Amino acid sequence: MTATVPTIDSPAALADSLRKVDYLADDRIAQVAFLADRLGKPILVEGPAGVGKTELAKSLARMWGRRLIRLQCYEGLDESKALYEWNYKKQLLRIQADHDKEWDELEDDIFSDEFLLARPLLEAIRSETPVVLLIDEIDRVEIETEALLLEVLSDFQVSIPELGTISASTRPFVVLTSNNTRELSEALKRRCLFLHISYPDPEREQQILLTRVPELPENLARQIARIVRSIRQMDLKKAPSVSESIDWARTLIALAVEHLDTEVVTDTLHVLLKYQSDIEKATAELTRR
Ligand SMILES: Nc1ncnc2c1ncn2[C@@H]1O[C@H](COP(=O)(O)OP(=O)(O)OP(=O)(O)O)[C@@H](O)[C@H]1O
Ligand SMILES: [Mg+2]
Repeated sequence: MTATVPTIDSPAALADSLRKVDYLADDRIAQVAFLADRLGKPILVEGPAGVGKTELAKSLARMWGRRLIRLQCYEGLDESKALYEWNYKKQLLRIQADHDKEWDELEDDIFSDEFLLARPLLEAIRSETPVVLLIDEIDRVEIETEALLLEVLSDFQVSIPELGTISASTRPFVVLTSNNTRELSEALKRRCLFLHISYPDPEREQQILLTRVPELPENLARQIARIVRSIRQMDLKKAPSVSESIDWARTLIALAVEHLDTEVVTDTLHVLLKYQSDIEKATAELTRR
């Protein structure tokens, strides 16, 4: 992975660099990412499933040639999985091996760096070279855990009672994503630049398809983008995302389809739609046309 890091002096230049790593940003995405870098603020990316929220963080890391550190959030995520924990097993072994030592001496020994397991947040802060820190699906953690993340993101330091305070040697570029399953705290929002990603317009979706499925003929990409958009406008339980239109493109190639007609579309709709009621509804609307 060799990344030539060009000077990025405008949102347009950033969009160009992102394109080189296969991410197609629209003007807003490019602008917010550019500003986040300039202002040193985290980005809070929100939007429906499969529109490129996670991929944006990965692509920025690739673009800058930085390491990506990912904290995947889930209900019940706590400090020991987000920040650090002590390696109890190793500590126990050391205590057994050094049983003739004084406790004071032993204590200093087993609460040292050697016995610390750094989890993503601590790892990102301790990194010698700046990383991209992806805090994915933050809306899944409880509000208390959100506060914990917030503390690290505002101070860029972590205090460990037995060790002292660890300050960031470099500042990570932070991307938080949310699917909006719950409201995030005002405090968190205030610290971040907000970016809403919605479904791409047909031109950008066509470009995304051509980038991700290079063997796709251009006219088929155009047709896919157009039909997917019209399906998104139907009143469905779950609209097809970009990942699904990519799957659809791959499906059509696998089936050696060169041109989309109603029959092919209705015969492959299950790749785009994941509810039987949606499939039936879309089939009815598409065949009526
Ligand atoms: N702008 C884009 N440029 C290139 N590829 C894209 C873009 N947007 C989406 N994709 C493609 O769509 C896929 C899905 O994107 P991603 O996993 O980032 O979605 P997400 O928004 O994080 O979804 P979820 O909320 O389900 O996690 C990516 O793997 C990528 O191939
Ligand atoms: Mg994601």
